[in-house]
Amino acid sequence: MVRETSLSVDNLIAPFFVCEGKGVRHEIGSMPEIYRFSVDTLLGAVKEIHSLGIPALILFGIPDKKDAVGSEAYNPDGIVQRAIREIKSAIPEMVVITDVCIDEYTDHGHCGVVREGRVLNDPTLELLAKMAVTHARAGADIVAPSDMMDGRVRAIRGNLDENGFPDTVILSYAAKYASAFYGPFREAADSAPQFGDRTTYQMDPGNSDEALREVLQDIEEGADMVMVKPALPYLDIIRRVRETVHVPVSAYNVSGEYSMIRAAARQGWLDEERVMMETLLSIKRAGAQNILTYFARKAAQILQK
Ligand code: PBG
Repeated sequence: MVRETSLSVDNLIAPFFVCEGKGVRHEIGSMPEIYRFSVDTLLGAVKEIHSLGIPALILFGIPDKKDAVGSEAYNPDGIVQRAIREIKSAIPEMVVITDVCIDEYTDHGHCGVVREGRVLNDPTLELLAKMAVTHARAGADIVAPSDMMDGRVRAIRGNLDENGFPDTVILSYAAKYASAFYGPFREAADSAPQFGDRTTYQMDPGNSDEALREVLQDIEEGADMVMVKPALPYLDIIRRVRETVHVPVSAYNVSGEYSMIRAAARQGWLDEERVMMETLLSIKRAGAQNILTYFARKAAQILQK
């Protein structure tokens, strides 16, 4: 009766990896029960989360061809663009969010254009803006830039507006840390950087004020919603952001957070269901209205009971 926070299925956003081919349903080694789907098999999985009442999903593309500038990322007929069209035509009310970042599409695995071993901010903006428009044109409701280049929200907003997509929402991965918790995702998306790391564009885990600067800058540039990522090691950041801004705040309960709970549960060391629900509730209590989580389907099943 007096509980302050409760978790609802409306808070959940389910991530999906989509790849080329037909009939593909390939389980990620480090993420039990999380799969790479081809577009045809993806639809069945999306229908399942829809029937559980999950309102939204986020798509990550795994193209067959990668190159230095991530061309497949902004191919109007690319893997994510096709997946969006299929999902929106089968289930129009499903909110489709897309990850806007070129790391899954570049052969070097970085989130930006690389020259002489450096990741360049400004030349990357145009590619991200182009990518976002192809997603909007395919029917995406929300585009979510996860690259952490400075100025990307303004570039994306401008290009969406110019191309007739003023209503496409921007959910910015505003405070995204250079985290070791992304390890299993990089296996899933085959996007580990081939040299160096992401510390020139993602945030230092020691910084908290900087998160507020990043968030405020993205809102100033036109972000409609902001995200903190990862979630569990950064609950303090979620809380500070929630108290500083008045746009919806999301948190990404990332791959490593999922894998460690699954791994401990497999060993019999943790009660998986209870730890999962406590984790998600805590992320919400910290201040996140929406949680991107690989637990979405399982949590929705429990919430439905
Ligand atoms: C970049 C991106 C990453 C994740 C989401 N978007 C990987 C990275 O920055 O290396 C990680 C998500 C997760 O770990 O679940 N496109």
